[in-house]
Amino acid sequence: MAVYHILVAHFPIALWLTAYLFIALRTFSDADIFVRLQKSIWPLILLGSLGGAVAFVIGLQIYPWSAITQSPLGRNHIMLATWTLAYWSVLGVLGYRLRRHLFDGVQRWFTFTLASIGALVVVITGTLGGSLTGTPSLVTQSLSAIGWNVYTTFYLPTWMLVVFAAGAILLVVLGYIGKETK
Ligand code: HEM
Repeated sequence: MAVYHILVAHFPIALWLTAYLFIALRTFSDADIFVRLQKSIWPLILLGSLGGAVAFVIGLQIYPWSAITQSPLGRNHIMLATWTLAYWSVLGVLGYRLRRHLFDGVQRWFTFTLASIGALVVVITGTLGGSLTGTPSLVTQSLSAIGWNVYTTFYLPTWMLVVFAAGAILLVVLGYIGKETK
């Protein structure tokens, strides 16, 4: 199963990062070619999510759940894979719904920032997968340099959960206010 996981995992990685490349090019240029490429952004992202879901399911078949979750590195890979898949799927739906307005005025900087976070999490997911196969990359080493040793359990202070919950409520409230004032 590992070989199929590795084979399939590269499809979402390539599709999401191609979408990111098109977003970055469009953010910094209004050239006709990049405006045309803009149309392919949401299909690329959602195709990537389809591939990501298949890679995710195959990934779960490689080792028994009780075995992979014994390893902090394994848990970290699963955690980042879950974030990556969920995050890009939401970006794909948003990209579809806002497809004509993604790069209007200041909106383009929100699009670029959100997509940059997506590119970062997919890179981390991939490097953790590579570390699982015994080939850690420079990214794994860089994460260690900024204080996250990926071979240890990932902890968040409890107060961060409060920050997350408050952030989620704030976003919902902002959404309602935005809808009312439209
Ligand atoms: C979005 C979903 C996922 C992506 C993009 C992804 C990506 C990757 C990548 C790039 C590799 C390394 C390939 C290489 O060394 O060339 C890998 C390895 C691995 N992944 Fe994932 N992965 C995902 C989800 C999962 C999940 C949910 C599991 C569940 C346990 C998992 C388990 C593994 C394991 C065990 C390996 C090592 C395989 C081996 O030792 O040969 N992956 N993954």
